[in-house]
Amino acid sequence: LIYAFIKGKGNLTDGLSRLLTEVSQGYFQPDVGGKNIPVAQGELSDLAGDEPLFKALYKWFLESGGVFKLEFGPKAFIVVSDPVVVRHLLKENYTNYDKGVLAEILEPIMGKGLIPADMETWKVRRRAIVPGFHRAYLDACINMFGRVSLQTAAKLEAATAAAAAGPSSAQPAVLDMETELLNLGLDIIGLGVFNYDFGSITRESPVIKAVYGVLKEAEHRSTFYIPYWNLPLTKYLVPRQRKFSADLAVINECLNELIDLAKKTRQVDDIEALQTRDYSKVKDASLLRFLVDMRDADLDNKQMRDDLMTMLIAGHETTAAVCTWTLFCLMQNEEAEAKCLAEIDSVVGDRLPTMDDFAKLPYLRMTIAESMRMYPQPPILIRRALGDDVLPPGLNGDPNGYPIGKGADLFISTWNVHRSPHLWKDPDTFRPERFTERFENPAFGGKWAGYNPDAQGASLYPNEVSSDFAFLPFGGGARKCIGDQFAITEACVALVVLLRRFRFRLVDPQGVGMATGATIHTANGMKCTVERRLAPPSPAAEAAQPAMAS
Ligand code: HEM
Repeated sequence: LIYAFIKGKGNLTDGLSRLLTEVSQGYFQPDVGGKNIPVAQGELSDLAGDEPLFKALYKWFLESGGVFKLEFGPKAFIVVSDPVVVRHLLKENYTNYDKGVLAEILEPIMGKGLIPADMETWKVRRRAIVPGFHRAYLDACINMFGRVSLQTAAKLEAATAAAAAGPSSAQPAVLDMETELLNLGLDIIGLGVFNYDFGSITRESPVIKAVYGVLKEAEHRSTFYIPYWNLPLTKYLVPRQRKFSADLAVINECLNELIDLAKKTRQVDDIEALQTRDYSKVKDASLLRFLVDMRDADLDNKQMRDDLMTMLIAGHETTAAVCTWTLFCLMQNEEAEAKCLAEIDSVVGDRLPTMDDFAKLPYLRMTIAESMRMYPQPPILIRRALGDDVLPPGLNGDPNGYPIGKGADLFISTWNVHRSPHLWKDPDTFRPERFTERFENPAFGGKWAGYNPDAQGASLYPNEVSSDFAFLPFGGGARKCIGDQFAITEACVALVVLLRRFRFRLVDPQGVGMATGATIHTANGMKCTVERRLAPPSPAAEAAQPAMAS
């Protein structure tokens, strides 16, 4: 009867078969991780408790090593916390791994955008999109980052003024800085990617509500075990799925309008010509502008929408979370805070930062790197093996390596790598200076492990190349983040503008907490007192900012 019922409904069959495929591939695979992988005996309750998933995995990593298997009844997945094995998965044998369950979760939202895309689509789109993040575009963006950060500063200014004028003028303003930084990040990504001003710092709009709705759903899905939303009827029957479809429709309409608008004003050119454009003359400098204007561009609206949606989601919460946790760390480390402030005051002062300033802000750069080490976004990368493979033994694993089977699900725990006691001295201590030091760990017979500032490929910002995959804030290999320069510049500008002007302190340091999502969130928001640090800058000082494209 059930078979006949399913047979009779094409749509339903699709949904069920997808779900069953998912369940059979991803959930019943008792021996995907060969015989010699150490097994950590997990309890489902360990993953469902108050503690975020990545914290539970850390505990098991310390007990079971850099490659271990977790078995929950019929479901098994392999957790990797060893930089050598991570390098193998992300770089040396990356063609054997796709995004597995993550792609299935994100496909309804991002379509064939870079993150969930199949290999063929990914190759074409990556080649098309990467040149969009060229130097002239980033130079143009930095002005926009400053302008948007000043809007947040104006909001904080108004809150401090209102608190001072209130009945208890001795009480400073209190704001949830996680929310303020999310709004700042949303406005920046909207302008930078498709020249749309969400205006979320100053107002609420249906599009903003829809974006936050979709982000929330993406997060819900990434922490849910069975992808029930693949069943077609859930779209109509489950209230949160109905809301999700409605939110998606609002965003799609907005993106489609923007794409159509950009196409109407299309000015076709070669990539080289686009990359050397005079951006002071481009009114709507954005990634969308670049993608539309490219000669031979794939002008399919659906693909373009998928690309933009992917960038919106990938670039918003991640950067906001980096700013949030950097502020969190600085508020509790007065010495590091004082060093950052001294640098910002002497190098930038009241004007807005320029690209050239970053070379002169080494301590701020290391501070952001240290916050990304301690709070990597996302804390776990997900992969699934497309074919059989042998994972290398890594730093201290089984010399025979670890054979794994096709369909094996892997969690690369960036959190574990970044907090590994084998790779970092005092891994739980916030200490930006560590990025100027080599760390030689006797546990590996004096072999270098950890960050090496002299390594080939070391750049202004520490990265996976200079640390040999001990530090991979933007991933590594072929699927490495394409927005890394955009994001790091944005975080620097926002922090320079806000730290210069305000003094932030946590209202309840113990109450902030952590929660797993696509990124690491606070559990309860980050309520801070906000006070003016210096007198407001003179109009002349602000006028000294670099000219902006109008
Ligand atoms: C991929 C982190 C900002 C777009 C990634 C990956 C990481 C990452 C770790 C690799 C994921 C994996 O291998 O599974 C971050 C962090 C950011 C940030 C920490 C902020 C500080 C951005 C921004 C954009 C962006 C601003 C776009 C404007 C992407 C895209 C991918 C990606 C499209 C997929 C690349 C591919 O598969 O080819 N990001 N990201 N990210 N990121 Fe970012």
